[in-house]
Amino acid sequence: MPATVVIGAQWGDEGKGKITNLLAQEADVVVRYQGGNNAGHTIVIGENTFALSLIPSGVIYPNVTPVIGNGCVVDPKVLLAEMKMLADRGIDPSRFKLSSNAHLIMPYHRKLDAVKERYLGRMQIGTTKRGIGPAYLDKYARVGIRVQDLYDPRIFRDKLEAAVKEANKILTKIYNQLPFEASEIAEEYLGYAARLEEHVDDTALFVWQTIRDGKTVIFEGAQGVLLDVDHGTYPFVTSSNPTSGGALTGTGIGPRDIDRVLGLTKAYVSRVGTGPFPTELSDEVGEAMVRIGGEYGTVTGRRRRCGWLDSVALRYAVRVGGITELALMKLDVLSEFPTLRIATGYLSDGIEYHEFPRQHRVLYNCEPIYEDLKGWTTDITAVRAWEDLPADARTYVERVEELARVPISMISVGPQRSATFTKRLPE
Ligand code: GDP
Ligand code: IMO
Ligand code: MG
Repeated sequence: MPATVVIGAQWGDEGKGKITNLLAQEADVVVRYQGGNNAGHTIVIGENTFALSLIPSGVIYPNVTPVIGNGCVVDPKVLLAEMKMLADRGIDPSRFKLSSNAHLIMPYHRKLDAVKERYLGRMQIGTTKRGIGPAYLDKYARVGIRVQDLYDPRIFRDKLEAAVKEANKILTKIYNQLPFEASEIAEEYLGYAARLEEHVDDTALFVWQTIRDGKTVIFEGAQGVLLDVDHGTYPFVTSSNPTSGGALTGTGIGPRDIDRVLGLTKAYVSRVGTGPFPTELSDEVGEAMVRIGGEYGTVTGRRRRCGWLDSVALRYAVRVGGITELALMKLDVLSEFPTLRIATGYLSDGIEYHEFPRQHRVLYNCEPIYEDLKGWTTDITAVRAWEDLPADARTYVERVEELARVPISMISVGPQRSATFTKRLPE
């Protein structure tokens, strides 16, 4: 399949790093199309674990050109640190390309992200405080600074001065913070510019040409459908479009260039940050999921909230995400539970919902309607073929597939690339 989009079908951390890395073995290009270093994508290779936040997960293969597309927001300091981390660990990141149209995360974006969250108090989103929201805000207000501006120092300084002037007013007058000095930021960023220059390119043209040449491109989504600014649980979302639509606008290709959209779902649900979560478990089962699944954020180290699989939300993610097939991740984490539950609907004020409700408030005050399935209660981490899964695990997977209304093509039973097998697709 020449062009595959990999997206999270939940609230992020589904295992996009692992699966992108797996698919990248046979790819030519892996491209990130939205988000920034709010993402934390883990890849485990033998004894080595890499947590990548900006550079696409295909970077470890010499056959792959990693690309950061125009839809991303890029903190150059973090990008350079990530390149150094890879180089120090024996991986050559020098092939990667950076879109000249990507927007830059500036120091005042990070500051604004943090103080705005504090200001929101109990209404806060629980952002990663990496400046993502404020950087996209400037992009859409048409006052953002793009990678290409770094290479025209006069324009860069003009734009920066205007942006800092406004940011300082907000920071000092509303949030009682110290102002930033535009000239200091200019020196810092023009220093980064020189170090990044060889990577900056017309990545839209490059990706388009790669597809035209019949080569293989993986679009590596960050976050997940339920964190999408348009289709997620707004306002508890990120400021970009992780859905497959984002892969088009975020790289500059058309819908007909995409062959398949692989959605990733854990066999349960996790969420980091605030916002509604109908199947959240605040009991010892939820605690066990955190423990067994190692559910602590890759970026911020925060404990992730956990709960049973929610097929209403999953079906919704399949629909608005344009997902053509699913990978079921972390199935091994459910091995300890004698009874497994899947939410098949929500009950709120006497009304049953089987489609994701358009009114946000329903997600807060609903009771999930559960279907119970028998657990398999044996270790499945060594299973490498569909036929070798215990019968109860196969039943569980088939039920998820039925409820999601899309085939599950891949099953993951451990962090290692090898702990994955395909499930035969229906005829
Ligand atoms: P991403 O943001 O979607 O790339 O996901 P993260 O890397 O933030 O979180 C997924 C975590 O689960 C990582 O620690 C992975 O190493 C781990 N992981 C991925 N697949 C599996 C699996 O099938 N089983 C287990 N136990 N862990 C997995
Ligand atoms: P990956 O790519 C999980 C969440 C934050 C917060 C909300 C907004 O690793 O799956 P932001 O900093 O983006 O403004 O925060 O989105 N969030 C993620 N949650 N995985 C991620 O990325 C996330 N990126 C952002 O916790 O609730
Ligand atoms: Mg993650």
